[in-house]
Amino acid sequence: MVRRSLVEDDARRLLGGAPVLIVTTQWRAVANAAPIAWAMPVSVNPPLLAIAVHPSRRSHDMIKYGEEFVVNIPSRVLLNHTQWLGMVSNSAGDKLEASRIPSFRARQVDAPLLEGCVGWIECTLHDWYTMGDHTLFIGKVVSAQADTDAFDFNTGMWTLDDDEYKPLMYLGGRSYSVLDEAFDATVEQRSVEQMQEEGLGQELEEAEAERRIKREEEAERREQEEQRGEYEPDTSSLPRELPDA
Ligand SMILES: Cc1cc2nc3c(=O)[nH]c(=O)nc-3n(C[C@H](O)[C@H](O)[C@H](O)COP(=O)(O)O)c2cc1C
Repeated sequence: MVRRSLVEDDARRLLGGAPVLIVTTQWRAVANAAPIAWAMPVSVNPPLLAIAVHPSRRSHDMIKYGEEFVVNIPSRVLLNHTQWLGMVSNSAGDKLEASRIPSFRARQVDAPLLEGCVGWIECTLHDWYTMGDHTLFIGKVVSAQADTDAFDFNTGMWTLDDDEYKPLMYLGGRSYSVLDEAFDATVEQRSVEQMQEEGLGQELEEAEAERRIKREEEAERREQEEQRGEYEPDTSSLPRELPDA
């Protein structure tokens, strides 16, 4: 195991693996849909969530002026549709219609809800902020629904029973995934003092010791390569042609 640096603007790639959303919008009787991976809840009461949208996206102005958007959470059946919706802009034509993804009416907003998804969150625009080169749109949740095959209404979590009913996660580039296994933490409530005395068992120490040995071996190997003049220095960056999203 070797720690290698990334340039600062690639750090975001380490957050890959989170759900991808298809954000639908409606403005002046035109509907649109675009995948958005940069999203998160930001408040429980009032219920608010945030999405980061680049001003060059058609969806950007549709949210700004339509003052609403829907977060559709796609399952694997929409894998290729999700990718394609992110490769073309609605400025070039009605891509939602062209995608042939069936849709149905929202409860509280005008933007459509998409079939092939496992969750739907309707939002009105609460606020927006310019954040660097993206705009952070804050949506106020006005209605939310989930597929009962995908979401357990007793635990409030994705069931992960069936790959076809799992939310699609975005890794980067053209790569997606679904969650595999759920496991529960078993640690009991304990004070800092108790923790200092007892710790949480040997697992972490053992794993750390193993990593340390590997790192030392790697450092030794490099040193030998360097002495033989074979060592290629770490360029500390990813290929520049990687896609933005
Ligand atoms: C998986 C995926 C995730 C994306 N995430 C974002 C994002 O979080 N923010 C953003 O501005 N663009 C994101 N994009 C790019 C937009 O979806 C893309 O530019 C799209 O064509 C915009 O469509 P529009 O111009 O019709 O709004 C993503 C693209 C893909 C494929």
